[in-house]
Order: sequence, then C-alpha cells, then structure tokens
Amino acid sequence: EVLFYDFVVNETPIEMLCETNRSVLIVNGLFPGPEIRAHKGDTIYVNVTNLGPYGITIHWHGVRQIRYPWSDGPEYVTQCPIPTNSSFLQKIKLTEEEGTLWWHAHSDWSRATIHGPIIILPVNNTNYPYKFDEQHTIVISEWYARDTKDIINEALASGGDPDLSVAYTINGQPGDSYSCSNGSAYNIMVVQGKTYLLRIIHSGLNEEMFFGIAEHNLTVVGMDGAYLKPLNIEYLMITPGQTMDVLVTANQTLGRYYMVFSPFVDTNAPSNENVTRGIFQYNGTYNHSETPVLPELPGFTNKSDAGNFTIQLRSLNSEEHPSTVPANITRNITITVSVNQQPCPANQTCTGPDGSMHSASLNNISFSAPSISILQAYYNNLLGVYNETFPDEPSFVFDYTGNVSALGEAAIVGNEVLMINYNEEVEIRFQGTNLGAAENHPMHLHGYSFYVVGMGDGNFSDSYVSDYNLVDPPYVNTVGLPKNGWTSIRFKADNPGVWFMHCHLERHASWGMNTVFIVGDGKEKHQKVYPPPSYMPPCTVS
Ligand code: C2O
Ligand code: CU
Repeated sequence: EVLFYDFVVNETPIEMLCETNRSVLIVNGLFPGPEIRAHKGDTIYVNVTNLGPYGITIHWHGVRQIRYPWSDGPEYVTQCPIPTNSSFLQKIKLTEEEGTLWWHAHSDWSRATIHGPIIILPVNNTNYPYKFDEQHTIVISEWYARDTKDIINEALASGGDPDLSVAYTINGQPGDSYSCSNGSAYNIMVVQGKTYLLRIIHSGLNEEMFFGIAEHNLTVVGMDGAYLKPLNIEYLMITPGQTMDVLVTANQTLGRYYMVFSPFVDTNAPSNENVTRGIFQYNGTYNHSETPVLPELPGFTNKSDAGNFTIQLRSLNSEEHPSTVPANITRNITITVSVNQQPCPANQTCTGPDGSMHSASLNNISFSAPSISILQAYYNNLLGVYNETFPDEPSFVFDYTGNVSALGEAAIVGNEVLMINYNEEVEIRFQGTNLGAAENHPMHLHGYSFYVVGMGDGNFSDSYVSDYNLVDPPYVNTVGLPKNGWTSIRFKADNPGVWFMHCHLERHASWGMNTVFIVGDGKEKHQKVYPPPSYMPPCTVS
C-alpha cells in the first residue's frame, strides 16, 4: 500500500506547566507530533513543509531505507536543511520493520518538540506473535524552559553544560508530580482482565529512563521495530532513541496505579531528577480519590539494575525464525566512545570542567559535519567534503577503566567517515572509556538494525568472543553502551548508502560523538544507491 501524510512544521503556542503562551516548533500543531500508522511493506510519502524560522530536517528513526538514503534526514549527512517556507517530499519504504519506531527532527536540538510515532502493523492486522486486547502509544519527551536551539548554541560557545530539561512528559503531559500540572496526568483506562500493548517511544534528549507500573508486571515483546521473546519484568530501562513494545494485563484489584518514568543517570551527571507519572486506571466502582500506588523503580544512579535489564533481551530467533546473525566476520572494528575536554581558546572564558570546553569523540575523533551533504558529495564525487579515514582501531590504547591519565587528552576535530564494503560481515566493538561520562551511551546506527551479541563492564577482551550470543541476540537500532564497559554488535553491510552513527544523547552528539558509515564500492555506487529525487533541499556552498 502507498500512504500519504502532510507534515507542517511551525512555531505554535502550547500550554505547558505554568507557561501558557510559549511558541515551540511542532508538526501540525501537535505535541507529540502526528502518528504514522502503516503495515509492513508499505511505502509512505510525507510532504514536509517548513514554516519555522530556520532550516530543519526529519529522520525516520529505525527505518532502514534500503538503498535510498536520500530521505533519511540527518542534516549535512544525507541532505541540507529544508529552508523556511519550502517543502521536501520524503519517501519512507518499510521493508523488514514491524512494531514501533518513530520520526524526529535531525537538526540541532529541534527534535525536543519535533517527533512522533511510527506504528508498523503486521501485514495481516491480527498476525502478532502475542495476544492483546487494546494498544496505546506512550511517547516520553523532555521539556525545556527555553528554545532548544539557543540552549545548545550557547553551550557550544561557552564549552559548558547545556541547560537541563525542566520536565519529562508522557504524551505531552508532565503529570501530577509537577506543581503546575493541576493534578492532571496521562491516563490509560483499563478493564479488569484485559491485556494492553503499550508502544513506548523514548524521544527525550538527554536522559535514560526506568519505567514501571505499580503492582503490574511488564512483558517486553518487541524493541526497535523487531519482536523479542517475551521477557517478564517489573521495570524496564529505555534510552533516548529506543522503542519498546510491552504487554500489561490489568489483573489487579480495581483501582488507580501510577505508571512512572524515572531517569537513570549513574553518578555525577547533571540531570533532571524529576519523575513523570501517568495513571493506569481501572474501570469500575471504587474510591477514585484515593492516591494511586507508586511502582518501585531503581534509584536514579542504579547502574547495575540498568545493565541487568538490557542483557536479558532475546530476539525471536528459533527454528521457526532462523537466525541471520553474521557468523563469518570479515571486518572487525573497535570504536572507543569518549567524553573529552578541549582546551579553552585564548581570550575566552570556558565553563566546561576546569575551565575547558566539553567535547566528545569516537576513536578520538570529534565529528564536525561539513556544511554540504556528505551523501550528495559521495554520490557526485565531490572532493574535499569529508575524509575516508575513520580508523578501524583507536589511535591509542590504555586501560579504559583504571588508568585515566588520558583524561585530559583532547580529541581531533574532523569529518572522518568509516568506509565499509558492500556485504561485508561487520563486527563493531564499542568501548566506553569512562573519561568523564556519567551515563551509558545509546549508540544508534542509521540504515541498519544490528545484533547485540555481547555486553559487559570494564575493558573488552578477545576472550569474551567465545561467550557471544550468536543464537538469539536482540536485533535493534540503538544500544546502551555502558559508559565504562563494552558492547559488541554485528550486521551484514547489505544496505549501500551514507549512514549516520551517533550517540542518541543529544548533548554528546552535539559535542561530536558521531561518525558516518559509507557502505558500498565507490566505483559501483551508481548501481548500488538509487538515484536522488530531482528536488533535494539545496545546499548553499559558502
Ligand atoms: Cu533517532 Cu540519528 O537518530
Ligand atoms: Cu553518549
């Protein structure tokens, strides 16, 4: 089926907490934005019209866009921003994805308010690998007290920490833990005995979240647009960028129960330690004025509970759903994921740690996007836009968990991209280096989902390879790399194109924790990537 949507981005006044008239950039007047609902295999056209004050782009997070990176969206990677008062018709081709994904702006921090769900139903509406009675979409967002473009631009100029969000919201409602919310909260009305599918989307910018519902168990059945073996748990952990499909059965006594998102920030991160609450409310006769029960969630800094959740996830792989985990790795890459400091330029006062400027890097390269699109430069053989020299190994090796002598090491600022040959079987070992980072890093790859075959604390060691899960590892597009641990992922490079790879914590991405994967043999790229539409947003070469 072919579906059409119109997205109009504009500054629109919305009421939030005690503010009644602040204008923010949203789509079609909605926060969160409009839902795309489709079936596996559909093609969707979205005509994006930008009426906002500056150029923006939209990304379809988790949609592989096979051989068609032209609509993928990250600014200066696959396109230039859609200028004010113009439109860009984007094509989203669903292939293998099934479950919950989302879309969001991919320019500066505008995704704080420009985001919404993508719900992908099975080809036959009833053909889920699990049963439920009703479904609800739950979008968790972060709300900032002022314009997010100003927040990040000021922070980058001073080298300091950007402002924190002032609230978390569930489907646009902060909930009744905030004094200005007048006791209103997002509510799911439930009927005793029924089972609900909750499609949870973490579109927040900077905090990972624990989620739970008082006195109800959760069964995680899907993540990032792919199914999982059912996992029964009391709480889940979700990072910015991730989506999770969760079943909840209303099997408790009639009443009202809080569902709570509470941040996970490990140690010493500046963080918004608020929680946001919604209510899981039974239909029926009981005392509705009684205070709902709160779920028990891990503390803000409970790293072991955060890690324990992720390692339990398993894909459906079985005889019925044969595994496609690459077994013959032809390319092995190690990427260190670091938060660094850059020296403060002379004649400037910097507000980063010890008067430095914050920065972040992958293999010690802090990515700085060019001012024209890498995809267009690649496709048209324009030289001098990027360097094909992102290394397969970090440039220096030390004990990532013990020896912090490299703490002051400044990263190289550059636009190095990683070249990968078409159909290579790739393994990437991400190593968190514990240099000042206070949270996990949700590493996200465009154009692919990948298998998370291993994860642990401390330094990676070759001896861990024999313990990899090559049978039923989860198949995801975003993985929470422990800040001082490692994660190994595998994928087959079967999607030619130019694909962004980055930490989905927006402040780390802004500090340079990004790179680009270019997949495909340069000589044959015109056969491997579909040609661009004739109407790409223009890049102005300055
Ligand atoms: Cu959610 Cu680069 O994306
Ligand atoms: Cu990060």
